[in-house]
Amino acid sequence: MKSEGVGAGRINRAGGVASALRFVGAFLEEPLTVGAFWPSSEELSRAVVDSCVFPPWGIVVELGPGTGSFTSLLLERLEDRGRLLALEINPTNLAVLRLRLPRCAAIHDSAENLDRYVGRGRADCVVSGLAWGNMLPATQDRIMNAIVRALSPGGQFVAFAYAHARYYPTTLRFRKLMFREFARVETSPIIWRNLPPAYVYRCWR
Ligand SMILES: C[S@@+](CC[C@H](N)C(=O)[O-])C[C@H]1O[C@@H](n2cnc3c(N)ncnc32)[C@H](O)[C@@H]1O
Repeated sequence: MKSEGVGAGRINRAGGVASALRFVGAFLEEPLTVGAFWPSSEELSRAVVDSCVFPPWGIVVELGPGTGSFTSLLLERLEDRGRLLALEINPTNLAVLRLRLPRCAAIHDSAENLDRYVGRGRADCVVSGLAWGNMLPATQDRIMNAIVRALSPGGQFVAFAYAHARYYPTTLRFRKLMFREFARVETSPIIWRNLPPAYVYRCWR
C-alpha cells in the first residue's frame, strides 16, 4: 500500500497530519455538517471501498469525500479507466481534497444536487461519506431521492454509520429509507479501529 504524508496507518488515507488537522478545523467550524472530528481510518476506508462493486469503466460518485479517505482508495480501484465524481459541501475539506487528489473530479456542491452532474440511471456505484445521523429528515429524503435517480438498474449504494449513533431516530430513519429504496441491504460488523467505531451498509437496487 502506498503511504502518503506524515504518519502511516490511521491517518495516511486522509493525507497525513496536516490534512487531518484541516479536517478538525472544518469540524470545529461546522460540526453538524462535517459530522466527525477526525477523518475515517484506513480500516473503515478499506471496509467501505472493498464493499463497492463496479465495472472497470464504471461511473462512481462519492458524496461527502472530506479530505479523501475513501477517495484515494476508489481512485486506485478505478485506475485510469472509470470515472470518479465527488460532491463536497465544505470548502476547507474540498480544498484539501483537490490538492491531494487532482485526478478526482471534485465539485463544490451539496449531494442533494447530484442530478446536475450525473444523468438519470448513469451511476454504477454511489459511495456515501455523509453523516446521515446528523441530517434533518427533509435533507435525508432529498439526498436519497437524488441517489436513487442517479443509480443505474442494479447499481449499488454504499454508506457508513457510526456505531454510537445506531439507535438515533435519524439513523433509524436513514435505515428505513435504505430498506424502502433498495432490494437488498447488508450491514457489516462494527469496525472498531475508527474514531468513532462505525459499520458499513451495502445496498443494491
Ligand atoms: C463524516 S465526514 C466524512 C468525510 C470522509 N468521507 C471520511 O470518511 O473521512 C462527512 C463529510 O460530508 C460533507 N458533507 C456534509 N453534508 C454534505 C452534503 N449535503 N453534500 C456534500 N457533502 C456534505 C462534510 O463536509 C464532510 O466532509
